[in-house]
Amino acid sequence: MKFVFALFALAFAGSFEPLNTTASNAACTVTSNQQGNCGGVAYELWMSGGGGGCSCTIKGDGTAAFSAQWNNCGDYLCRAGRGSGSTSGITANYAYTKSGSGGGYSFIGIYGWTTSPLVEYYIVDDWFSGGGNSGGSQKGSFTQDGATYNIWQHTQNNQPSIQGTATFEQFFSIRSSQRTSGSINVSAHFDKWNSLGMRMGSLYEAKLLIEAGGGSGSIDYSTGTI
Ligand SMILES: *[C@@H]1O[C@H](CO)[C@@H](O)[C@H](O)[C@H]1NC(C)=O
Ligand SMILES: *[C@@H]1O[C@H](CO)[C@@H](O)[C@H](O)[C@H]1NC(C)=O
Repeated sequence: MKFVFALFALAFAGSFEPLNTTASNAACTVTSNQQGNCGGVAYELWMSGGGGGCSCTIKGDGTAAFSAQWNNCGDYLCRAGRGSGSTSGITANYAYTKSGSGGGYSFIGIYGWTTSPLVEYYIVDDWFSGGGNSGGSQKGSFTQDGATYNIWQHTQNNQPSIQGTATFEQFFSIRSSQRTSGSINVSAHFDKWNSLGMRMGSLYEAKLLIEAGGGSGSIDYSTGTI
């Protein structure tokens, strides 16, 4: 058997190219405001400032794992995950390391928008020193995935959105204890918000997020699925 196999392998050695791992695992690095698809994963980099040291690299391994760097980029958001679809059955798993600072506000967790109505939403598991505050009014709290999340709603007046400058609601679930790895039942937050009268529209996206309101820092996801 071994001899026959060796002959077979020799005969066809010149006919097959190796798996094109370069193409399917190519990382995607962006340094200016851009949205796209990297290895089947939707991503967007958006920042109000810019300059050197502001970038986001989607790992391109078919997951939402990414690494990001910011250095006084204004409001800086890098996110990767899924685009439009059902709001049901969404679970995220993540693990990362972070360093540096996130300016006056920062949010790490799950993020996205809905349309009709236009809503910007956050499920926040972690933040840099001074971050993790939404403002607005507290609507409730609930226990999910091992901790209490406090739920807030805040109105943005004439602020940037996926539909240009607009006035819209922001929904927040903010974890009472920070963590850098875990699992989030994303749809459970959607369901809880709905039960509190916080109505979402059609899902535009559900992605892993780092948002930093200034500062200089980095984050590197070793695991990121949603
Ligand atoms: C492999 O990927 C490279 C880079 O994307 C591409 O130019 C090349 O055509 C691919 N080869 C095959 C056999 O798919
Ligand atoms: C997520 O939470 C919902 C309740 O909103 C529940 O029906 C569903 O089973 C949960 N999913 C997982 C994977 O635990």
